Amino acid sequence: MKRVITYGTFDLLHYGHINLLKKAKSLGDYLIVALSTDEFNWNEKRKKCYFTYEERKGLLEALRYVDLVIPETCWEQKNTDVTKYLIDIFVMGDDWENKFDFLQQKCEVKYLPRTPEISTTKIKSDLNLRLLL
Ligand code: CTP
Repeated sequence: MKRVITYGTFDLLHYGHINLLKKAKSLGDYLIVALSTDEFNWNEKRKKCYFTYEERKGLLEALRYVDLVIPETCWEQKNTDVTKYLIDIFVMGDDWENKFDFLQQKCEVKYLPRTPEISTTKIKSDLNLRLLL
């Protein structure tokens, strides 16, 4: 069984996320999503989520492509996750191109093309603008 892992915040789940998760699952048989906790998002990425960790986790668990959601609490855990969860393929969107090549010693590393013109940031700013009209 091929095991795939990916990481992210997945706030305001949108079709760019779905495309990434669908493609990631198609590369193997079992997809793990390491979902950034609210603390990690704020402390490390200065990102404030609209949905809480538990809400984002529930949305991901409802998707047919996702088999397991685990918390992402620090940058360094990727190395240990790959070993602990017997990962064959590590997947990220290509906004992270080459950033995790160091994992190639342990598993295959793939960067998938992002879906153009959609992001959580864009949804937030579009809705903000609409509220002003
Ligand atoms: N992703 C993608 N295509 C998009 C948006 C996101 O493939 N249009 C991928 C990212 O490359 C990442 C995963 O989805 O591998 C989770 O991304 P995340 O940062 O949570 O989503 P964004 O919409 O990019 O959020 P933000 O605007 O807050 O950066």
